[in-house]
This record gives sequence, structure tokens and C-alpha cells, in this order.
Amino acid sequence: MNTINVALPHNSYEIKVGAGILAQAGPWLKGIGFNGKAVIITDSNVRPLYADALSQSLAGAGFSVTLLEVPAGEAAKTLETAASLYDRLSEAYAERSTLILALGGGVIGDLAGFVAATYMRGTPYVQVPTSLLAMVDSSIGGKTAVDRGKLKNIVGAFYQPRMVIGDIATLKTLPPVELSNGMAEIIKMAGVYSEPLFDYLENNMSKAMGMDLAVLERVTVENDRLKAPVVERDEKETGTERIMLNYGHTVGHAVEAVSDFALKHGQAVAIGMVAENEIARRMGYLDSAAAKRMEKVIKAAGLPARPPALNIKKVMRAMQQDKKVLRGRVRFVLLKSIGEAFIADNVEPALVEEVLSRG
Ligand SMILES: NC(=O)c1ccc[n+]([C@@H]2O[C@H](COP(=O)([O-])OP(=O)(O)OC[C@H]3O[C@@H](n4cnc5c(N)ncnc54)[C@H](O)[C@@H]3O)[C@@H](O)[C@H]2O)c1
Ligand SMILES: [Zn+2]
Repeated sequence: MNTINVALPHNSYEIKVGAGILAQAGPWLKGIGFNGKAVIITDSNVRPLYADALSQSLAGAGFSVTLLEVPAGEAAKTLETAASLYDRLSEAYAERSTLILALGGGVIGDLAGFVAATYMRGTPYVQVPTSLLAMVDSSIGGKTAVDRGKLKNIVGAFYQPRMVIGDIATLKTLPPVELSNGMAEIIKMAGVYSEPLFDYLENNMSKAMGMDLAVLERVTVENDRLKAPVVERDEKETGTERIMLNYGHTVGHAVEAVSDFALKHGQAVAIGMVAENEIARRMGYLDSAAAKRMEKVIKAAGLPARPPALNIKKVMRAMQQDKKVLRGRVRFVLLKSIGEAFIADNVEPALVEEVLSRG
């Protein structure tokens, strides 16, 4: 078991990563001062798999537990679902001190986190991520949100969890496409911050994709050790540090939206990383060898490297609407080498179009 600290001025917390640690949730949460009511928010896929284990651990530590389920999938990440959760929380007599546990993937983490941020002006919550993407990305850093129509994460809050409990053993039931999805964010993190992690991914990707829990634990821990200090330095993305995590996301978000979300987020980010590397290469920042290594790892993770046939003009327009646009300029995070990234405001739209249209 590994513990990674996220040290913030007011909201420090621990990330726990290990196989089979769900059973320790109750004692750990009691240990940091919680007791009384606890509400688990989960989805229809995860509930039959892991809700009992979490519930029993909490009950064993003296919590009285309520379980709330929402339908699985991004379509449930809405204000309407949040509203139904507010109602169900009231019916369960949830109070401002009631602990909310987000048990599931990133959809549940974002939704339950948003509900926790807003119900009674804020109740404490804990992330219990069960997808790889949630373990390495969405559960860390306190970004919570819901979608409105096609606008993803358009209503939300920065609201830090009190603990993150990532039980690697839960990944055993994760569909392979979801494993790839999470792996895209780990590759991203390695690309921006860590050549050693990238090397490790290169050497161990087939084991990871074959569900080797020791390898998955190691890459999750290494990833989280890289993400924690980024959140510490730039809690609310007011600086430039957290922007670095958007490597692959400028193009990625745009192709994801234009595909009508037929592309999963990780797939879109993979396409985005390859395209942005090509932009960096053509601008003379990144050498071809590094770009090729990156593309190879992406493919080994079962991720696409090229976009499907999409309307390029629409992709360009979608990029202009992104949250990362600053005063009209689309910002890109480009690699100089594997493990080193920078923010580029000077990427010519014509170059982006050219790269997106390449065969
Ligand atoms: N807050 C952030 O910083 C942040 C960062 C990245 C992504 N996100 C958000 O995260 C969401 C995507 O997260 P996701 O990829 O985890 O999607 P998800 O929550 O939809 O989970 C993917 C699928 O896997 C299922 N699942 C989860 N854990 C499982 C398990 N252990 N066994 C079997 N099935 C399991 C889910 O029910 C779902 O069907 C998006 O809404 C995205 O906007 C947020
Ligand atoms: Zn992402």
C-alpha cells in the first residue's frame, strides 16, 4: 500500500493506492475524524461489484450507511441527476457533516464531488475511484462538475476530497477499453513530466494491458506522485502549472466533441497527443524519434493514434471554444522531449489544420 500526500494550505489529504484496500476505508476514515452518517454514491455497474465491500467496511467502523445509485455513463453527469441526489440526500436526513463517498469512475467522482460541493453549501467527501482514469486523474485535484448538453464540465466547483482510496484490485473487472482510456492519461503524465515513467510504460505496457496488478499499481502510484505536486502548486488552475496536464487535450477535447463523444476521452487524448507531437515536430521543438516512441506506446495501450474521418473545420471551431483559450489564442501544451513540456501560444491555425488533415 502506498500513501501520497496532497499538501494544500487548507485542504490537505492523502491518496491511498493498493490492491484490496477497500476494506480499510472505514477504519481510515474514522481515523481522520469522521463518524455518523455516510452516503455512498455509485453507478449501476459498480454497485453490484463493490458497494457491499465498501458499505461493510464503513459499517464495521461504526458508520450508518446509505447507498445511492445512478445509471452508469456520462449521460448521468447532469444537473438533473445532481438534483435527484439532493432530494435523496434530504430523504436520508443527510446533514452538513455527513460524509459522501464517490464509488466509481470519473463520472461518479465528478458528479458526487459536485453534489458534495453544493449540498448544504458543502459536505465532506471521499473519492473511491474504481476506473483507471479515475485513479490517475479525476479523483485527484478537486475538480468537480456536471455537463449541460454537449458542454462538458461546464458547471462545477473546485472542491477537494478528504481522502482518495484507489483499490487497484477493482480494476480486475474494468472493461479493456476503459483500461486503455485511463492509460492515455498516464502516458500524458509521463510525456509531460517523467522520462523514467515513460521508459517503464514502454517496457511494461503489455503486462499492464494484461491486467498485471503489480504493474498497474506501480504506474498509478508513479502517476499520482507526479500529479500531487502539480495540484499543490496550482490548486485552482490559476497559474500555468495545471495547464501542463492539458497536453494532448487541446486537439483531444475538440475531436472528442466533434465525434459526438463516440470517441472516449482517453482515445481522443491519444489522438491529441500524437497530433500535438506532430505540431511540435513541425515547429522544430520535438525530434522524430521521441514522437515515434510516444506513438508506439499509445498503440501498445490499445489507443488510436489518428482521428477517424471528422470534419476538420468543426474540429478547428471546437478548439476555439475550449476552456483553455486565453484571450482568443488557442493554447497548446507541446513537448520538447519526453518528460519536458511547455505552453505554446504561437501555434498557427493553418499548421494545426495541416496536421489534422495528414493521412
Ligand atoms: N475531475 C477531473 O479532473 C477529471 C479528469 C478527467 C476526466 N474527468 C471526467 O471523468 C469522466 C470519465 O471517467 P471514466 O473514464 O472513469 O468514466 P466512467 O465513470 O463512465 O467509467 C467508465 C465505465 O466503467 C465502469 N466502471 C468503473 N469502474 C469499474 C470497475 N472497477 N469494474 C467494472 N466497471 C467499472 C463505469 O460504470 C462506466 O461504465 C468524464 O466525465 C470526465 O469528464 C474528470
Ligand atoms: Zn483528460
